[in-house]
Amino acid sequence: MSTSKLASTMKNASLPSVEKDSVIALRDVWKIYDTGEIRVEAMKNVSLKIAQGEFVAIMGASGSGKSTMLNILGCLDHPTRGIYLLDDVDVSTFSASDRADIRNQKIGFIFQTFNLLSRTSVWENVEAPMLYSDIAKVERTERIQEALRIVGLSEKAKALPNQLSGGQQQRVAAARALVNRPAILLADEPTGNLDSSTSDEIMSFLQKLNHEKGITLIMVTHENDVAAYASRRIQMRDGKIINDEIITPNVVSN
Ligand SMILES: Nc1ncnc2c1ncn2[C@@H]1O[C@H](COP(=O)(O)OP(=O)(O)O)[C@@H](O)[C@H]1O
Ligand SMILES: [Mg+2]
Repeated sequence: MSTSKLASTMKNASLPSVEKDSVIALRDVWKIYDTGEIRVEAMKNVSLKIAQGEFVAIMGASGSGKSTMLNILGCLDHPTRGIYLLDDVDVSTFSASDRADIRNQKIGFIFQTFNLLSRTSVWENVEAPMLYSDIAKVERTERIQEALRIVGLSEKAKALPNQLSGGQQQRVAAARALVNRPAILLADEPTGNLDSSTSDEIMSFLQKLNHEKGITLIMVTHENDVAAYASRRIQMRDGKIINDEIITPNVVSN
């Protein structure tokens, strides 16, 4: 880690100051999948800045590169070319294990399918991400209690996931994503498996998290109703950003 950190510190010294306010900055990023037989340009020269506390919806047709971009932003994958600055650190050349470290420190994920451990209690599901870091048990307990309180599931700590509704399961996933106190929260179709009223419930919950806790939220969705909760909408097509606009979010009072 130290060599790459040093390298990125040196690079960052010459950055314009505006980029230093961005929690995320992509510069001329390409992602090319090349299996030998087929070559797909999934991201083509994408540049993007996202400031701390923004709530961004990424939209676009299937195959337009949304998940590819989210995977790169989440340090699950790295760009083929170009630079990714996460909190001013150039992570584009990080090894897989350095990416895993930075993911654990700075990024929370919410998936369409919740991805909870099914035979494991809500409490233990939320605890899981902390088992990879050296957080003392007392501190872990406090963080789990806090995360469950934020998502409104303190009473369900002992339940198993299949004893909960879909909306409650997604809130457990949100608690799990929050427990390492990430700088950014990434969600790929977070309401894709939920009916429309539960979807509204989760979206107002995520919006509240963004407003009240200032968490930077980046969400992929193909539904306009869901994107309407965000305050910025980015449209992708064929691996490029074709539109990027500030929108007035649909605010639900509850
Ligand atoms: N691991 C991979 N190997 C090869 N091609 C891929 C891979 N992942 C995605 N692609 C291709 O990259 C393009 C963008 O995919 P993706 O980012 O999943 O789009 P979206 O999430 O918008 O549906 C598509 O053409 C897809 O087939
Ligand atoms: Mg996708």
